[in-house]
Amino acid sequence: MRLRSLRTRLTLLFFGVTLVAVTVVFFYVTPQLESSLREQKLRSLAETAEAFTPLIADVVRDNASNRRIDQAVVSVADRTSTRVTLLSVGDGTQGLQLAVFSDSTTQVEIEDLQFEVAEVAARTGRPAAGSESSADGLLGQVARPIRDGLTVSRVAVFSDPLADVQGNVGLIRRQILVAGGLGLLLALVGGFLVSRTIARRVKVLEEGADKVARGDFTATFPADQDDELGQLARALDDMQRQLGQLESARKRFIATASHELRTPIFSLGGFLELLQDEELDDDTRRQFVGVVREQVDRLGKLATDLLDLSRLEAGSLELRPEATDLGVLARTVTAEFIPALDKHDSHLELRLGGQPIQAVCDPERVAQVLRILIDNALTHTPAGTDMVVTAARENGAVSLAVRDGGPGIRSDAIARVFEPFFTSDDAQGSGLGLAIARELAERMDGSLAVDPTPGHTTFSLELPA
Ligand SMILES: Nc1ncnc2c1ncn2[C@@H]1O[C@H](COP(=O)(O)OP(=O)(O)O)[C@@H](O)[C@H]1O
Ligand SMILES: [Mg+2]
Repeated sequence: MRLRSLRTRLTLLFFGVTLVAVTVVFFYVTPQLESSLREQKLRSLAETAEAFTPLIADVVRDNASNRRIDQAVVSVADRTSTRVTLLSVGDGTQGLQLAVFSDSTTQVEIEDLQFEVAEVAARTGRPAAGSESSADGLLGQVARPIRDGLTVSRVAVFSDPLADVQGNVGLIRRQILVAGGLGLLLALVGGFLVSRTIARRVKVLEEGADKVARGDFTATFPADQDDELGQLARALDDMQRQLGQLESARKRFIATASHELRTPIFSLGGFLELLQDEELDDDTRRQFVGVVREQVDRLGKLATDLLDLSRLEAGSLELRPEATDLGVLARTVTAEFIPALDKHDSHLELRLGGQPIQAVCDPERVAQVLRILIDNALTHTPAGTDMVVTAARENGAVSLAVRDGGPGIRSDAIARVFEPFFTSDDAQGSGLGLAIARELAERMDGSLAVDPTPGHTTFSLELPA
């Protein structure tokens, strides 16, 4: 559990990365450094040899005495701070034979050296460089041939210990180890501190989210920095605000719904009490029973509507799509309204365009939307208002529209007509009709729009064909 915490992981990651970096430097970079330092040293030795070999060659070509040659060798060695060895080249039975002719050092046994570079230089007639291990450690060597006419008669070898290169590299290695150790310590401490800060900030967010999960919308999500965690804090804050809004919308809905249910129930109670009165004459009793029936019908419709809306909002309303002819559907639904239209003294015109209007949709639900729209065109317009129901196909979509010649919708109400429980006049509706119709339209991937122009108020349902 502790091992899997963000803090431990980040700290270990910091430590691991530093360790890898130090290891790479130690085992990969330092050997390269050593060889390149060695090469550099040999190169400068070669330059020295190129510059100073002619001094010895001149003396050799002058056929000077051995003593003078020795002096020249020692003086070049002094001036270049290297060991200088002059070898003579002779033709032997087994090829070239090299022998030490003169050497700037007297303390060291010259026999300990093989001078392989000298052999290469004598054979090829070109300068050669290499290294050889001696009693004092590795020795860098550069050999340059000295010609007598066309043949190589001598070879001058300049030697310089490579020990200081090794010493330098060793020093660098030790310094890398010290710096690496310090770096690792720093990575541990730094990783721990950084990850502790991050873990603390995450903890604060987690506590806030817990609070919201418990239904407490007063949590604070400090967006103290402009990084990812700051963004997360802002997103959580937004989420909290929206959840808060949803929660208050839900409470408002329940309050309104209970109020809507209570009013008819109270009124029912009142009428039932009146009906219990023995002395009621038959006419009044019949009148009261009629009112009671009306209230019960209203309650029943309200209950059905509430159930529909809550199912729609919970997404649990099941749709049963099938191939439907919207023209036929419109004709059937409008036929149901013949008595109501008659009572309202209205004429309903059907415009179906002659062609079948095929769409795959749930016919029951489309019919429900159409009933809501026609019912509104009847209830919210004065008697004698005519209406037109249109079914059409346009741009790959199908539409059903209900237009009436009524007074339209006031501009301050237009934005709210689709809200649950919103009613703008005293027609005694529950205000759920358009809310249900819009939810249904959206569940069917369609839309419900309104054009509130007085004289031809139009509600149109559009569905994907
Ligand atoms: N065809 C219409 N003409 C004028 N106003 C309308 C029309 N249809 C809807 N409205 C307005 O929209 C409001 C909401 O309608 P609705 O959701 O069906 O609830 P209800 O019909 O129960 O009042 C109505 O109260 C009414 O003011
Ligand atoms: Mg209505």
